[in-house]
Amino acid sequence: MILKFLPNQHGGSLDMNFNVQKLRQEFPNLNIQVHGMPLVYLDNAATTLKPRCVIDAINAYYVTGVSNVHRGVHFLSEQATAAFEYSRQVVRQFLHARRVEEIIFTKGATEALNLVAQSYGRHFLKKGDEIIISHMEHHSNIVPWQLLCEQIGCVLKVIPINDRGELILEEYLKLLSDKTKLVSLVWVSNSLGTVNPVKAVIEAAHSQGAVVVIDAAQAVTHTMINVQELDCDFLVFSGHKVFGPTGVGVLYGKEKYLSAMPPYQGGGDMIKSVTFAKTTYNDLPYKFEAGTPPIAEVIGLRSALEYFQTHSWESMHQYKQELLDYGTKALLSIDGVRIVGTAKDKTSILSFVVDGIHPHDLGTLVDQEGVAIRTGHHCTQPVMEFFKIPATARASLAFYNTKEELDILVRAINRAKEIFK
Ligand SMILES: Cc1ncc(COP(=O)(O)O)c(C=O)c1O
Repeated sequence: MILKFLPNQHGGSLDMNFNVQKLRQEFPNLNIQVHGMPLVYLDNAATTLKPRCVIDAINAYYVTGVSNVHRGVHFLSEQATAAFEYSRQVVRQFLHARRVEEIIFTKGATEALNLVAQSYGRHFLKKGDEIIISHMEHHSNIVPWQLLCEQIGCVLKVIPINDRGELILEEYLKLLSDKTKLVSLVWVSNSLGTVNPVKAVIEAAHSQGAVVVIDAAQAVTHTMINVQELDCDFLVFSGHKVFGPTGVGVLYGKEKYLSAMPPYQGGGDMIKSVTFAKTTYNDLPYKFEAGTPPIAEVIGLRSALEYFQTHSWESMHQYKQELLDYGTKALLSIDGVRIVGTAKDKTSILSFVVDGIHPHDLGTLVDQEGVAIRTGHHCTQPVMEFFKIPATARASLAFYNTKEELDILVRAINRAKEIFK
């Protein structure tokens, strides 16, 4: 279904000829200047730039289609509802989920993780039960479980990592027991780039009867996701990391769990009927979508996913891997640079430190040359603690980046080194 006010520009065929220069033209933000220099955007793990079709889809909703969803019989409301629900189908297909009822729209990956902790966790876990996460989790996959542990007295266990920033699987297997009720793991680490062997982790957890939550916030642009093949019980991601808008994310959950879970928040849309004596809840997925949802953002997400899927995974993967190899060699050619996160299975995230320059100073100096990198702990303080560093500089790559941009980063780092000499 193609709605009049939402021209679907990207339902087209797969583009097998990966052409980075052509692709860059679709991202208006790449044309801006920063401090008088052309922008070199290397902060894609924080958020990705948006292609024109996403901006157009959001714009079209606001210009000619504004209405609330699910509540009106008038034309605009029906149209907005259809667009909103169509997005859910696109997400279902993107994740290869069995049913649209298994797709819940949230504010982002963080909210989706909190939803699982507060709804599934509080309902199905009890004092003494164990939850396993890893040492490389983003804070959003640590703190919700700590809150849950404080609330109900369950126990958090942490899978250790090695010096390359890889999970130590043998230690994971030792932590697993019949006390383990839930395992929540990041698929791709945002500060190290490590790609975790999620399939093996899920199988081992299931053999102990534990449910598994996968944080796919970074994996979503790295690999095709098939939740049925993975057999994860829950999976979360954020729209803004996959070329979509901020303010929208997705929780996938197996229907058997979602339907048994209590609502996370109360309000409009998540009810069937309300009286002061008793309220009954709506069916899936609406039971978990209280209040007016992020309509424009959900519509923008659809456009992003459709756009993204017009590129072949193989070509994108190969190109990004080439960039990663090139960037790794280029950074290591600079005296005093150390890369943090050297896993064998790694994707396009380059965290590094430079002798004698604090990452924040480095970030500020390269910014003067138009280069956007992120510096800090990247919401993974335990990772920084493990590597005994306060912070790293991080260049994170997307399929619109180029080797020339990595050369500009290297030149900017060399200039920063000159200043600090
Ligand atoms: C691995 C990982 N998990 C979770 C999140 C949280 O995503 P959001 O802030 O969009 O909710 C991030 C964001 O950087 C992330 O990289």
